[in-house]
Amino acid sequence: MTQNRTALVTGANQGIGFALVQELANRLGPDDLVLLSGRDPQRVAEAVSRVQGTARVEGRVLDVTDADAVAALAAELEEVDIVISNAIGPLVPDKTQAEQADVFIDVANLGAQSMLRAFAPILRPGGRFLVVASSLGTLDHLPQHLHPRFDNATLDQVEDAVEEWRAAIHNGTAEEKGWPEWINLPSKVAQVAAVRAVAAERRTQDLADGTLIASVCPGLVDTRASRPWFDDFSQAKSPAEAVKPIVDLVLADLDPARYGELIRDGKVLPWRG
Ligand SMILES: NC(=O)c1ccc[n+]([C@@H]2O[C@H](COP(=O)([O-])OP(=O)(O)OC[C@H]3O[C@@H](n4cnc5c(N)ncnc54)[C@H](OP(=O)(O)O)[C@@H]3O)[C@@H](O)[C@H]2O)c1
Repeated sequence: MTQNRTALVTGANQGIGFALVQELANRLGPDDLVLLSGRDPQRVAEAVSRVQGTARVEGRVLDVTDADAVAALAAELEEVDIVISNAIGPLVPDKTQAEQADVFIDVANLGAQSMLRAFAPILRPGGRFLVVASSLGTLDHLPQHLHPRFDNATLDQVEDAVEEWRAAIHNGTAEEKGWPEWINLPSKVAQVAAVRAVAAERRTQDLADGTLIASVCPGLVDTRASRPWFDDFSQAKSPAEAVKPIVDLVLADLDPARYGELIRDGKVLPWRG
């Protein structure tokens, strides 16, 4: 990677995103810039004021569901070295999955897809583009007959599959079509598939340049997103602990075996489970 690196993290005013910014600020240099982005100006400004580290940190308001805003930020920056697409919308057990699906899919899936479309092309040689997904994003979390929708799919095909899934949730056919009820599962598979799609197209040039595109699983982490779903957090990591292996991956030399894959604690999780 070059000197004077620029890093961008989405959904970074709290949780794992904030910890990623803090860890990058600690481990990058004084000539590097970390952009802490989030959808709300006050929450972004407050979060920036809490970061302490070596690198410069600036806030940027970026709602990842606004594809034009995502594209405009990419056009403004022109080149980036590190992009971590991390934002996720709210999902709670005491509302139906269907009533939460649009916001959830718009942030987690359309957001990650827009980030890949806008920022992968402006990644500098040797850069890093990570999508924070989950070990729930391997293909075996879907029934077999849905695998062809995501396996070896292009980004257009992943986007079409996401919209078909969304339509099935709204017209009441999701269950009969085999989509898991917990919308986090297809969402994570689609995120990992989107990363695989973009990586497949760029693989040869990226490996030559030392550039990494991958998805990552942080493990169970005590955050706003996870708290409503689990009772026992005794095995959960803090956000600060969870991001260390992710930033290790960002700063490590490129291992071709990890290219395009889902990585947890430095190890590849096999796509087909
Ligand atoms: N926590 C875990 O155990 C765990 C496990 C596996 C994977 N993950 C993954 O890790 C990632 C981060 O999760 P987390 O646990 O840190 O979640 P979190 O604490 O709920 O934080 C989510 C962040 O996304 C932001 N956000 C929401 N909507 C947005 C939008 N439209 N545009 C931009 N930012 C938006 C939130 O901003 P506001 O504060 O404004 O809402 C917040 O900063 C997610 O992809 C999640 O699936 C988490």
